[in-house]
Amino acid sequence: MTTGSLLVADLVIAVLAAAGWLGGGAASAVRRRPLALGLAAVALLATLARAVTITALARAGWWFAAEKVLITGPLSLAAVGVAGPRLLRVPGDIRAVSVPLFFAGYATSGALLVTILHGYPASAGAGLLAVAGVVAATMISGRALGARPSRTVSRVALGVAVAALVTGTGLTVAPGAAPAVPHDHGYPVARIADEPTRRFTLTAGSVTVDAGGRNVAAWAFNGQVPGPELTATVGDVVEVTLRNRDIGRGVTLHWHGYDVPNDQDGVPGVTQAAVRPGQEFVYRFRADQAGTYWYHTHSASDVGVRMGLYGVLVVRPGPVTGLDVTVPVHTLTGRPLPAPRVEPVEAGVPVRLRLINTDSTTHRYALAGTPFRVAAIDGVDLRGPTPLVDTALLIPAGGRYDLVFSAPATPVALFVDGRAVYSTGPVSTATGAWPVLDPLGYGATAAAPWSRFDKTFTLVLDRGLDLRNLLPRYAHTVNGAADPDIPPQVVRRGDVVRFTIVNRSQIVHPWHLHGHHVLVLARNGKSAAGSPLWLDSFDVRPGEVWEVAFRADNPGMWANHCHNLAHADAGMTLHLMYS
Ligand code: C2O
Ligand code: CU
Repeated sequence: MTTGSLLVADLVIAVLAAAGWLGGGAASAVRRRPLALGLAAVALLATLARAVTITALARAGWWFAAEKVLITGPLSLAAVGVAGPRLLRVPGDIRAVSVPLFFAGYATSGALLVTILHGYPASAGAGLLAVAGVVAATMISGRALGARPSRTVSRVALGVAVAALVTGTGLTVAPGAAPAVPHDHGYPVARIADEPTRRFTLTAGSVTVDAGGRNVAAWAFNGQVPGPELTATVGDVVEVTLRNRDIGRGVTLHWHGYDVPNDQDGVPGVTQAAVRPGQEFVYRFRADQAGTYWYHTHSASDVGVRMGLYGVLVVRPGPVTGLDVTVPVHTLTGRPLPAPRVEPVEAGVPVRLRLINTDSTTHRYALAGTPFRVAAIDGVDLRGPTPLVDTALLIPAGGRYDLVFSAPATPVALFVDGRAVYSTGPVSTATGAWPVLDPLGYGATAAAPWSRFDKTFTLVLDRGLDLRNLLPRYAHTVNGAADPDIPPQVVRRGDVVRFTIVNRSQIVHPWHLHGHHVLVLARNGKSAAGSPLWLDSFDVRPGEVWEVAFRADNPGMWANHCHNLAHADAGMTLHLMYS
């Protein structure tokens, strides 16, 4: 069983336990004896079963189980300890077991709420708040059912409530307030003299575009979605003038995966001010990484990218040989882009397909009709990629795969989530059952460049209740905190930095660090075995633990966030900062 499915199983059992106890309490209150006993028995079994799931989760990693061991454990023991003996000696009037059953229900629900609303790391405040809630709810139920609580119980309850109020702020306040990300306006444009310069102008504006035969409202660069494809040759200087015609939320250009100098990175409020309607900003950087990249607005990035403010950036090592096709996949108001393209090609022509996922969720790609190699991932060439046949690829949000093959005499077709997007002729192949490539075992290995790390950071991804401007929100969190309260990771230039990224939530988080490619060291405790993988976007699935590392060689203040941009907006963004 994977840790991801264990997390789900544990949650389902926890809900079952809480519902069983509460239902049993309610049934006994109205003297439905068999129903009450049945529900209580289910609850008892479920509560005991959690000993198994919680132990297994703790073995998978303390991050997955901390609050379950420290808070759920004691509360579940209390539930079983109070309700269990009553169930063994059921009195004549079933109503007498009602309050103990309610108590067990509140205890298990309280623990469940701690997991759902607070998560990792466990805190004394959260535990006490849960206990206070359980005691208060039990007392109210007791009153309502005409049972009178003992003095001691009331005193203990009062004490716990006070302690909870004193420490319980831990539920909403981030561990250690984060130093504010510096806001500074008036950024110098890097000037590089005398190099061949590729100049582009991108004007952002709201337009109506055709998406799959239907007119939809969009935000576009130069009136088109995706924006113009920017190409350069290694060594060129790329100079892009960004203008904003009428996008009220502001616009910037972020060069996704391109490790530009910090002041060209396009993150509003961090590396520049957002470009407002009527304003412009000039980006300039040297194209010294070959490969497939993309650009997108980073101002109100979730809605901005979704509405169409993105495009392709391809940097080639030299002149194009053969057929070189970019396939930027996007969903525009529910319509999949790009429109299918059919392009016959002569046998023997070398073909490179540059697959780009510009959406916020994973897509599944399948190339039918030819063996192919994955030549590069996230712009970086793989070492010794072997030919693949009938193998699907999962590309995370923001990620890119370059596929190469020599055109066969018969047609080939690229399917994205089952839809033919690019083909050289008619192909009818069912690709849905193909196995998926695991890039961690693909290609030829090489010795790791580092064996020791100057800094190690752990990022535990989860959800939790957070207060933002005094309004509660169910945020996507890192180490229990949400943007802007996540402390930045401080490194020194030259440090070799390691990240452990743990996903204890029920959803995929495509992780993306700006300004650096990270080398994958291991996933779920298993070392990466194939070609070195230098990624800028990778899916951390529920229950997964990734170990990645990079050299801190690009000073500045860098966004480090989930590339499901709705999650990034809802708290899952922090910063890497050079001291
Ligand atoms: Cu492609 Cu900060 O994002
Ligand atoms: Cu996410």
